[in-house]
Amino acid sequence: MIDDARTLAVVTLGCKVNQYDTDAVVTQFLDAGYKLVDFQDRADVYLINTCTVTNLGDRKSRQMIRRAHKNNPDAKVVVMGCLAQTTPEDVAALEGVTLVVGTDGRSGIVEEIERLEPWQQRSLVQDILDVATFEDMPSLDFSGRTRATLKIQDGCDQFCTYCRVPFARGPSRSRAPESVLRQVEEILALGYKEIVLTGIHLGLYGADLDPPQSLAQISADIAAIKGLLRLRISSVDPHEITDELIDLVATHPVLCRHMHIPLQSGSDSVLDRMGRNYSRAQFQEIADILRRRIPDVAITTDIMVGFPGETEEDFLQTMQLAEDVGFSKIHVFKYSKRAGTMAATFPDQIEPGQKEDRSKRLIQLGEAMAERFHCSFIGENVAVLVEQMQENQAIGHTDNYVKVTFPASPDVDLVGQIVSVRVLEASADGVQGLVNG
Ligand code: 5AD
Ligand code: SF4
Repeated sequence: MIDDARTLAVVTLGCKVNQYDTDAVVTQFLDAGYKLVDFQDRADVYLINTCTVTNLGDRKSRQMIRRAHKNNPDAKVVVMGCLAQTTPEDVAALEGVTLVVGTDGRSGIVEEIERLEPWQQRSLVQDILDVATFEDMPSLDFSGRTRATLKIQDGCDQFCTYCRVPFARGPSRSRAPESVLRQVEEILALGYKEIVLTGIHLGLYGADLDPPQSLAQISADIAAIKGLLRLRISSVDPHEITDELIDLVATHPVLCRHMHIPLQSGSDSVLDRMGRNYSRAQFQEIADILRRRIPDVAITTDIMVGFPGETEEDFLQTMQLAEDVGFSKIHVFKYSKRAGTMAATFPDQIEPGQKEDRSKRLIQLGEAMAERFHCSFIGENVAVLVEQMQENQAIGHTDNYVKVTFPASPDVDLVGQIVSVRVLEASADGVQGLVNG
């Protein structure tokens, strides 16, 4: 019998997929009777889900592991995720670490941790490059009441020259369609209205299944399920945006008019050295098609600055393309040299000061473009899915991911409802308006 006074504290570094994995493991702990407490509190078990996409991810991950041990030196500490997968020995060498788990084999964590004493140690990390199937873990979503994340794919086969993720996540694996649809039903039964499909490389969804499937097909099947108001696709590489997918987003009312398409660079020579499979012209063409087919579409992106050999000219081409495409949000990453990747050996690594400067300029452009996008809705009515009520205000997003704030009485709980709002003001952050009618 498990003592229900046992407590678990959790922290997640990195991306949405990591957050999903954390939630799936937390679900197992809750099922076993554990209680979730704040990370600052004294807990019996600490779970740190690590990231290794940049040096900063590594550093923050190690910091949280040390903090867990400091918060309670007698606790059991579980370290899982991308940093644990790529450098299990280094993680195991940190003081207080009880269990090291990678990015697979997470279904038995609770039993494993129950067997171990705090001073013992075990590693469950296996060679991820040999893992061929999607680890199917159901997950409750702890982040809110309206929008749930659903992971349908893991891993990546692309090996971009800068990226450590394929080493951390292994080959592309897809969740079986039956499991995806079952998860959707469960999420809807919990009252969620919006689902965000995530994966490490979503565009590869279904290629490994028998019979093969596609992102467009599974999205259409999900969108057909009754009760789902919105389906958002988190990220698709440019060369994987098929006509079928564009058609679906353009025509299906449940599909959000929002595409996150990682650009990384607007310079052909940089794209080529990054090992990306598209040119700046191809990216622009896809963006043009999306704009033509999907009015008011939000196109968001990831861009990396300071890749080895990136000249001022290359960077200006990125700025120009970003401006021409008209992104509504840019996530800016400063290139980080990662051990084991091809680009780590490339000449002409860029000075930190230079990266910082380019990052600032691009962030500034991103904010200006966000503001421009938001301003285009002034005077229009937009449909807002309300996510939270704060004092006398309701806050939510449109399907094309504009954050909307409007006055609302705290007596009426609008969370989970779609409200029509007339936009009056806009900033880089979002828009404000009044309930329409
Ligand atoms: N340095 C900086 N950013 C990186 N990313 C991936 N690898 C690196 C790296 N070595 C960024 C990419 C990707 C995002 C998730 O992380 O922009 O789209
Ligand atoms: Fe970080 Fe990438 Fe792993 Fe996500 S997949 S946690 S971004 S290294």
